[in-house]
Amino acid sequence: MSIHAIASGKGGVGKTMLAITLAHALARRRRRVLLVDGDLGLANLDIQLGLAPARDLSDVLAGRIALPAAIIAHAAGFDLLPGRSGSGALAGLAPGRLEMLLEDLRALAGGYDEVLIDCGAGLAAATRRLAAWADGLLVVTNGEPTSLTDAYAVLKLHAGDGGAWPAGVIVNQVIGRREATRTHATLARACRGFLQRTPRLAGIVRADPHVADAIRHQTPLLTRHPTCLAAQDIDAVAEQMLTTAIPA
Ligand SMILES: Nc1ncnc2c1ncn2[C@@H]1O[C@H](COP(=O)(O)OP(=O)(O)O)[C@@H](O)[C@H]1O
Ligand SMILES: [Mg+2]
Repeated sequence: MSIHAIASGKGGVGKTMLAITLAHALARRRRRVLLVDGDLGLANLDIQLGLAPARDLSDVLAGRIALPAAIIAHAAGFDLLPGRSGSGALAGLAPGRLEMLLEDLRALAGGYDEVLIDCGAGLAAATRRLAAWADGLLVVTNGEPTSLTDAYAVLKLHAGDGGAWPAGVIVNQVIGRREATRTHATLARACRGFLQRTPRLAGIVRADPHVADAIRHQTPLLTRHPTCLAAQDIDAVAEQMLTTAIPA
């Protein structure tokens, strides 16, 4: 079992779309997958999936239900632990309570092959803790300098927090491979120079108008456009995840 945190510095780089599509691709490969909404303030996995969960993580944190009771089985073949947008429940959590939640989550993760956590953008304390606690971190960026700078900030804090390394970088919304390898190389150079370690290139996902269409229809990309460019690319990321073991 491995727990992967999916994070980014800048928002809107495609974390949620990527988390859903990766979960779906892994489930199609017969892995038992749990997808967790770990976005602190702006949870929206349920929105992208077109669900209106009756119970979510905020009910767990308020002590109304136990963690397993918040889990929903999605028709795409993975389980989902939804969050509640705007509840602030995870953001305002006392550190001790967060540790209890992580302990419960670790126990729950034992029943799965892969756990993916869609983290919020940015560097909130709880997000950093989630990333450092996970077995692996995937940082999503696009080729824009602002997104790249913010991705570096996340990697820097992750290294300082003693998180799993090498962290992976997924370069999203690129026109071609060249743009992605250049983006990764820039990030890797900064990390090597200032952090004395290098993140690996965990995936390249091309810009594809089918992504926006799937989100607008609140349907998983692999359901609505299973063979589009972005779907092919994310399927390749899933394949690589299963062949590249995360260092414990
Ligand atoms: N590969 C891609 N090609 C085209 N558009 C994309 C791609 N990835 C993400 N997007 C667009 O970026 C926006 C943000 O995606 P989202 O998954 O909500 O990001 P985040 O969770 O990082 O905030 C979406 O509206 C989506 O249409
Ligand atoms: Mg998101």
